[in-house]
Amino acid sequence: MLHFILHDYPVVGSTNDEAKTLLAQGAGEGTIVCAQRQTAGRGRRGRQWMSPEGNLYLSLILTPRCLLSQASQLSFVIAVAVGQAILPFLTSPHLLSYKWPNDILVEKKKVAGILIETESQGGQLADACVVGIGLNLALVPPNMPYPVTALGDHSSSAVLKEMIFPALLDHLKEAYQLWTDKGFAPIREQWLQRAHGLGQTLAITVGNREYRGEFMDLSPEGALLLKNEEGTIQRLMSAEIL
Ligand code: BTN
Repeated sequence: MLHFILHDYPVVGSTNDEAKTLLAQGAGEGTIVCAQRQTAGRGRRGRQWMSPEGNLYLSLILTPRCLLSQASQLSFVIAVAVGQAILPFLTSPHLLSYKWPNDILVEKKKVAGILIETESQGGQLADACVVGIGLNLALVPPNMPYPVTALGDHSSSAVLKEMIFPALLDHLKEAYQLWTDKGFAPIREQWLQRAHGLGQTLAITVGNREYRGEFMDLSPEGALLLKNEEGTIQRLMSAEIL
């Protein structure tokens, strides 16, 4: 069972970097770094994560002792936990969906993102993962290359960090426990119930190449199964849905 130790800062560069520093100093599983704002918040693919005061930024150290190839399943574990935490605040549960591999959408617009950075001593095991979560509570970052939103815009009242934070921790604990006890299958099921674009034709990029194909399923390991125009099913572990 996860036990949380919270480090709360007014401002940091990046909570992921702060968590990595604590990890190097011996901090263990359950260590959480959160901040009111970040000056160097990072997203996936080296993107900037705008982090003004008013939204939620946290990083969690996990030591799942899984294979490196399984560490990417944590994205789905965390997405499901974030989804469960925000669900009670939404005016309708139908607004929530999960975009492969690790975005949380409300009304098809990104409300939260997950950045997982895995440390390994070599070999095939993931020694530690720093799981970063950015959740737009009140502020919508401007000029983003994809549609974005904030939870407060889909809630009947303002959503304060103090309101959602304890629920998020509970759901993180529960989803992580489910994954470590029962494996990926039950998380996969929950994620698929709200999968964005399932059964639809999607445009995706893999490196510099753009593909189109039908999102058929999520593999038992978490890969995106995409049927191309020739009917061949591609199994993608790393790609971006446009
Ligand atoms: C993404 O969707 O690209 C992932 C965004 C992750 C942002 C969070 S905010 C808390 C943590 N600290 C960071 O620098 N990044 C993550």
